[in-house]
Amino acid sequence: MTVIVEEPVFEVQENSKNISFDTNELVLDAGFVMPEPKLLVSDNGFSTPETNAFGKTFRDYDAESERKNAVEEFYKQNHIHQTVDFVKRMREDYKKLDKVEMSIWECCELLNTVVDESDPDLDEPQIEHLLQTAEAIRKDYPNEDWLHLTALIHDLGKVLVHPSFGELPQWAVVGDTFPVGCAYDESIVHHKYFKENPDHYNPAYNTKSGIYSQGCGLENVLVSWGHDDYMYLVAKENGTTLPPAALFVIRFHSFYALHKSGAYMHLLNDEDKENLKWLHVFNKYDLYSKSKVRVDVEKVKPYYLSLINKYFPSKLRW
Ligand SMILES: [Fe+2]
Ligand SMILES: [Fe+2]
Repeated sequence: MTVIVEEPVFEVQENSKNISFDTNELVLDAGFVMPEPKLLVSDNGFSTPETNAFGKTFRDYDAESERKNAVEEFYKQNHIHQTVDFVKRMREDYKKLDKVEMSIWECCELLNTVVDESDPDLDEPQIEHLLQTAEAIRKDYPNEDWLHLTALIHDLGKVLVHPSFGELPQWAVVGDTFPVGCAYDESIVHHKYFKENPDHYNPAYNTKSGIYSQGCGLENVLVSWGHDDYMYLVAKENGTTLPPAALFVIRFHSFYALHKSGAYMHLLNDEDKENLKWLHVFNKYDLYSKSKVRVDVEKVKPYYLSLINKYFPSKLRW
C-alpha cells in the first residue's frame, strides 16, 4: 500500500541543504549493493529514466524550478502555521499515544509504504534511508550500538502522514524545525514567510529569548511540530532505555538553525551542548546516506531486531 498525501499535493525534501556527493566515500561493503537505475515517477507523473553514473537523476530546468517553487510553498505553509498554540495542541494530542499499537520494526515497515516523493534526494523506500544511515554510522562507530538504533528510528515519526496517525499535512511532519515562542532566527530557510505568522507580532514571543530564559535547556523549549518531536515523545513515553544523547538526536535532527547555523545557542544548557556533538556526528550520515547505495534489508534485519529488543518494549503505543 502506498500512502498518498492529498494535501498539499507538492512534496518537500526533508531539509533544503545541498548534499555533496563524494564518490570516494561510496564504499561498497557486505551490506551494500549498487542499485539498477530505476524509473522515477516525478510529481507531475512523468517518468525520468535518465540517471547519472551515481544513480542521481538528471533534472531539467523546468522540473528543477517547479520543485523549487514547491519547496518554497511548503515552507510558506510551515512558517505561517507553526505557532506556539499549534505546537502545544499537537504535543498534547500526540502525547496521549492513543493512535496505534505496534513494534518499532512494524513501524519501519509501515513507513516503507509511505513514499516521500517530495524529497528529491530520497527516492528510495524510507526503510532504505533508515538502514543506509544506520549502516553508515555502524561502520564508523561500531561500538555505539545506541547510535545505530537511533539512526534506524530517527524518521519513524513520518508516519504522521498516514491516515491512522491523523494524516497530517507535510508542513506539520517534515522540513527544518525551529523554536516557537521566541524570535525566528534569520538563518531559518525562507525566513520571510514568518511575517505571515501571528506569533511574529506578539511581543511575548518575538524577542531573542521570548518566553524562555538564557540557558534554560532545549528540554524546556517548544520546537515546531513534526516527525522529530513526535518520535521523541513515542520513544520517551514508551520507556526506551536509549541514552539521553539518542533522544536529543531524534528530537532535534531537523533543527538546522541550531546544528548547522549555530543559532539559538543561548537557550542550551551544558547537557545540550554535550549532546549537540552527537547530533553533528549523526547529521553527517543522515545527509550523506541519501544516496543510491542500497542495503540488503533481510541481511541486516537480525542485528537491528536485537537492538530494538535491547532498548524498547516489544510493543509500543503510538
Ligand atoms: Fe528526519
Ligand atoms: Fe533522515
